[in-house]
Amino acid sequence: MKIKSLLLIGALFAVGCSAPKEDQIDKRVNDLLGKMTLEEKIGQMNQVSGGYQFIDQIAAGNIGSILNIVDPVEVNAVQKAAVEQSRLGIPLLVSRDVIHGFRTIFPIPLGMAATFNPEIVEKGARIAAIEATASGVRWTFSPMLDIARDSRWGRVAEGSGEDPYLDVQMGVAMVKGYQGDNYADPTSLAACVKHFVGYGAAEGGRDYNTAMISERALRNTYFPAFKACVEAGALTLMTSFNDVDGLPSTGNDWLLTDILRGEWGFDGMVVTDWNSSGELVSHGYAEDLKDATALSVNAGVDMDMMSFGFVQHIKALVEEGRISEKTIDNAVRNILRLKFRLGLFENPYVDETLAAKVAYAPEHLEAAKQCATESVILLQNNNNTLPLKSAKTILVTGPMADAPYDQLGTWAFDGEEQHTVTPLDALKNDYKVIYEPGLGYSRDNNTSGIAAAKAAARRADAVVVFVGEEAILSGEAHCLSQLNLQGAQSKLIAAMKATGKPVVVVVIAGRMLTIEKDMAQCDAMLYSLHPGTMGGAAIADLITGRAVPSGKSPMTFLRDAGQAPFYYNHPMTGRPNNGTETLLNDIPIKAGQTSLGCTSYYLDSGYGPHLPFGYGLSYTTFEYSDITLDKQQYAADDTIVVEYTLANTGSYDATEVVQLYVRDLVGSVVRPVKELKGFERVALKAGETKRCRFELPVSELAYWNRDMKYVVEPGKFQLWVAGDSASGEAHSFEVK
Ligand code: GLC
Repeated sequence: MKIKSLLLIGALFAVGCSAPKEDQIDKRVNDLLGKMTLEEKIGQMNQVSGGYQFIDQIAAGNIGSILNIVDPVEVNAVQKAAVEQSRLGIPLLVSRDVIHGFRTIFPIPLGMAATFNPEIVEKGARIAAIEATASGVRWTFSPMLDIARDSRWGRVAEGSGEDPYLDVQMGVAMVKGYQGDNYADPTSLAACVKHFVGYGAAEGGRDYNTAMISERALRNTYFPAFKACVEAGALTLMTSFNDVDGLPSTGNDWLLTDILRGEWGFDGMVVTDWNSSGELVSHGYAEDLKDATALSVNAGVDMDMMSFGFVQHIKALVEEGRISEKTIDNAVRNILRLKFRLGLFENPYVDETLAAKVAYAPEHLEAAKQCATESVILLQNNNNTLPLKSAKTILVTGPMADAPYDQLGTWAFDGEEQHTVTPLDALKNDYKVIYEPGLGYSRDNNTSGIAAAKAAARRADAVVVFVGEEAILSGEAHCLSQLNLQGAQSKLIAAMKATGKPVVVVVIAGRMLTIEKDMAQCDAMLYSLHPGTMGGAAIADLITGRAVPSGKSPMTFLRDAGQAPFYYNHPMTGRPNNGTETLLNDIPIKAGQTSLGCTSYYLDSGYGPHLPFGYGLSYTTFEYSDITLDKQQYAADDTIVVEYTLANTGSYDATEVVQLYVRDLVGSVVRPVKELKGFERVALKAGETKRCRFELPVSELAYWNRDMKYVVEPGKFQLWVAGDSASGEAHSFEVK
């Protein structure tokens, strides 16, 4: 047996790091598993945060994975302990949160979603993989796929927003970018789709809070991106902290076994979130850590991140018969399979000189700049204030104009602010810049600096105000009950408006803030979701007109945080807003109880949001016309061919993100008023007209219906082709 396996390993080496065949891997997994003691199996299920301090435990075979070590020297040292000192020489899985770049930081994932460009997002993930694996990291805890409909939740920054279709496109792009085609390639970075599931539906937008989601809503809204990424080959998955309908995900066997393994056939590895197994105790779902361990492992968790429950209690739980050794063997198979797939047994160490060579490579920075440029959303441009072509001297003010650390956004652990190009840095190459920050940081209420900014404005042709959020104000556990600009930022904008100069506001934040009032105080507004290392260069290109904005909002902009959760793909309700609503100040004194009309709206903030999902302007104008469907009636196996003419009717070459929406008018359950079913980036020269098309298989109209079946229900539908979710005319068709 030994000779055979050595020959096999030799054969694999002979073909270099070519991807080992799955059947060979399974054989090697089972061979190795057959040699392992229960203690060694349990060791593989144990993940710790750290390196050198665990070297003895690693050498003893008690640890299967580490996180948060990115020094290749330390990685090699602890890997050596695993490979050359432990009895079976099983290599460690080295992991890290590489969420939107490693050294070269891309826009936060919400910003990447705003590009509606899966290609650049995949490229960004590939670059992150090249930089991270050069440090010895072979597993990232990304992409985060949590659908988010409430900007009060700080982690909206880390996902792709409110729409399942966009979430699928972005998640699959990142999985492919991270992992590449050959998992044994040393630059392949195992993806981890997270947080399974429903974490973004935390009640009140308050992190870790309970989520009440029906099975049908899970299947129609929260599952799609996870399922698509599993089908795209995601190698791992992370369970979420939250409970859904009283079942914490980390102990939910319906989720982790019936759905993930049973329905979707996932053969990857499942890891908990940080201590989320231990937190089953605080949930009141487990008596103690030992009970939590039994619940997690029996639900389908393979690896324990930082509860230490697995390494402490599994042996006793197996001896007591509360966990079968078969269950342990399955978990360890999933872990070993991943390690074999990544080629770690053949190639456990990293070249310690590589990291410095690949970090910030010019092509990495260029891609990060492209992504940042395409992520910025133009919200307003009165009198074509932008681009600033005639201005020679500009005042640059605001706390985000020169914030190299905060511009990187949340979860940018390994980004280095000294490499950040800030807007102030970049604009100095294009204008004579007067710089008066006005405020020290985004939460600053000290307005003493505003006077100097006002005085400086008098010497400028135009004012550019950079406001928004410090990085720490979004991300995990950073939720807000109000979404207005923090500190005295709105006062600074108003003061700039009072100068009478053209005022451009650039918001750099980790979420969609409520900026309607601020928008009324300026001529133009650009919205940038923490754009990363090259954000300043991207924003300068947009302000000068070297680039034209194409970003579209991946989440709805609210008028007031009190409207949350508000999302475009909502049900109609039985009393939809119909524009006849009476608002607070129009209510007659002693109004009769039924005089206000009975539709779904707020007396104080009306019904609709400030700006809709998919919204974003350009320096040019686009005209949609001649939208046609190839038929009026479709069979279930047909493809709907939608043609449309798009004209660039302005004076700038530009790209439009054309969006295709569908509505199912009547269903066995109520259906969303609109659902994104396609989008494409169409580049047109000024004055150019193009005939374009979408091809939408009728099967894409399927959903989980009243009988919990995934079907296309015959009936009447409407379809829109437009530049955002609130525009365009409805075109009817029928499915027979
Ligand atoms: C955190 C996050 C998770 C992250 C993990 C490791 O608490 O919830 O997204 O990957 O711990 O840092």
